[in-house]
Amino acid sequence: MTPSDFLWGAATSAYQIEGATREGGRGESIWDRFAAIPGKIADGSAGEPADDHYHRVREDVALMRELGLQAYRFSIAWPRIQPQGRGGLSTNRAGLDFYERLVDLLLQHNIRPFVTLYHWDLPQALQERGGWANRDTVERFVEYADSVSYRLGDRVSDWITHNEPWVVAHLGHVTGAHAPGLTRPDLYPRVVHHLLLSHGLAVPVVRGNVRGGPGVSARVGITLNLTPVEPLSAHDEDERAVVIEDGLRNRLFLDPLFKGSYPSDILERRPLLEIETGELDRIATPIDFLGVNYYTRTIVTMGPHDEPKQTLRPGDNAERTAMGWEVYPPGLYDLLARLKRDYDPPAIYITENGAAFEDEVGAHGAVRDPRRVAYLDAHVEQVARAVADGVPVKGYFAWSLLDNWEWAEGYTKRFGIVHVDYDTQTRTIKDSGRWYQRLIAGEGT
Ligand code: FCB
Repeated sequence: MTPSDFLWGAATSAYQIEGATREGGRGESIWDRFAAIPGKIADGSAGEPADDHYHRVREDVALMRELGLQAYRFSIAWPRIQPQGRGGLSTNRAGLDFYERLVDLLLQHNIRPFVTLYHWDLPQALQERGGWANRDTVERFVEYADSVSYRLGDRVSDWITHNEPWVVAHLGHVTGAHAPGLTRPDLYPRVVHHLLLSHGLAVPVVRGNVRGGPGVSARVGITLNLTPVEPLSAHDEDERAVVIEDGLRNRLFLDPLFKGSYPSDILERRPLLEIETGELDRIATPIDFLGVNYYTRTIVTMGPHDEPKQTLRPGDNAERTAMGWEVYPPGLYDLLARLKRDYDPPAIYITENGAAFEDEVGAHGAVRDPRRVAYLDAHVEQVARAVADGVPVKGYFAWSLLDNWEWAEGYTKRFGIVHVDYDTQTRTIKDSGRWYQRLIAGEGT
């Protein structure tokens, strides 16, 4: 079904699983600060203790081995490496040691590490100085990327600079639903530009530091959350809303990365004032792969103020996950085919795909999650279709290995293929985990 070099993995991120937020010399992150504000997180919780992964790395890697994972995507907590957002002598060795131990365990078990450098947990100290709206954070990120990739570059070959810059810029700075919780639409274009620029500047630095690891050579990419956008109706205004929404969600990131320019129709709506000469070329530094996170499609109509508005089709009775997201597997195929047609990336990894449902541990400790099995199965099938049609998808990472702290939703949403009891930290492989294990082993599902 898929080529023999295709990698099957699972993904997590630091703040969602590690806990131990005040251990090992870790500094404060913007998520510690944000989660402490009453009303920001659905259940009033924070990423502490999360999955206590910091203390259970061995057990968790053993689970990965049991599932037969060939790759594991995780992120580094920047505040563990630079507690005050500064490198040099202030670099926290204990933080680097922690990730080195994790990587060594993975390699011992023949699991290929994919390291994400930024999965949203900025050191609070950098936020105090303006965070991603400040150009200086770009330099700080490159310095951080240098120090991590220098330390791990003798054993990790696969690197992802950023996870979902749209979410960081939009939810973090426009709606305020995510840390740092700003409602400053005026900052949006600048934040997008700084995130992308920091990616482009980090790519050669990381590449230069890779001198070993399971891949033959360095492979550096970025992960975007992409969504096919469809109109509510065939009405011209809805079609126009599609072009704009697609521009805001997809082209605003893909065009600079692959074509070296921001889409002009979107720049007219969200003017970017301060692009310096050469910066667009840096953003378009060739990457080795594009990471794609896919969960659902987006349907839009034209709303007030000439802005697209997300909506549902009338009488819509589509299946939805616990997040309220429509289950729409063909959207993944459509997206992949479009990426190949419009951007032709050298390789693609599905770096996240999965679903939250209300799981319970049943009799005999089993977790029956047939809807998640069906979700994953249907999406894997769409990936296979895309591969058969020549889209260079090289791997698939289920989100997530473990139930974890789902940002503004706290502990209320479970995405894992492994169940976590947060009171006892007991891990239980769900039926979906068993299904994935059989898929990877090639035993048929
Ligand atoms: C993505 C995030 C990931 C997780 C999933 C459900 O946007 O990258 O951390 O929250 O959604």
